[in-house]
Amino acid sequence: MPSALILKIHTISVTVFLVFYLLKTFFLLLGKDTVLDTFSKNTRITEMVFSALFLITGIWLIVITGGIKTLQIVKLLLVFASIPLAVTGFKKKKKILASLSFLMLIGAYGLAEASRSKPYPIKHASASESSPGKYLFENNCTQCHGPDGKKMYHEAADLSLSVKDASMMAAIIRNGSNKKMPAYGELLSEEEIHAVAEYVYTLRSN
Ligand code: HEC
Repeated sequence: MPSALILKIHTISVTVFLVFYLLKTFFLLLGKDTVLDTFSKNTRITEMVFSALFLITGIWLIVITGGIKTLQIVKLLLVFASIPLAVTGFKKKKKILASLSFLMLIGAYGLAEASRSKPYPIKHASASESSPGKYLFENNCTQCHGPDGKKMYHEAADLSLSVKDASMMAAIIRNGSNKKMPAYGELLSEEEIHAVAEYVYTLRSN
């Protein structure tokens, strides 16, 4: 299945999940306990389906990218910590627990957005590496671009079709682009940026 579709299912199921939680927290805070119980009962199956979809697609996305960012780890911890709080909060009608859980989920959503243009943890080539450019690319860039440059995860450019020259590519690698491509200027040395830009050049099909 293409990663764009999985990403879309993930976003939709997360949204449905959040809307359910928002409504339930709202009912609880307004003291509408019977409404809350009826709503919870009527949406139980739907909520189970969407939360399963949300978890499966989330794990699938980690597998597709083959990497996880620090902010995404914090996001996962927040999601997993918020679920038992919400379950207890809604069941025992504890407003503080349910609100806290909802805030944690909103925080997790914010982190997911904020992590979009962040790089995966950086790996540098050792001095003995015969092709540092290739090593840097395969360890820092393939999560989004794939080993052949064609993966296009999260709207990443197809590098095999790029028409940019080496200095333009180096500038994009250094500064990032459109809040989608991470900036590597503070993470990689100029020498590393040039080495990886040169390697990207070799992925061209033309
Ligand atoms: C988090 C995902 C992600 C990672 C990791 C990533 N990129 Fe990108 N890259 C993108 C996206 C998205 C674009 C398209 C940006 C745009 O549309 O402005 C892009 C665009 C580019 C371009 C411009 C191509 C063109 O012709 O427009 C180059 C070159 C590039 N990336 C190289 C790299 C290199 C080298 C690395 C590793 C050091 C890397 N990228 C890591 C997402 C990523």
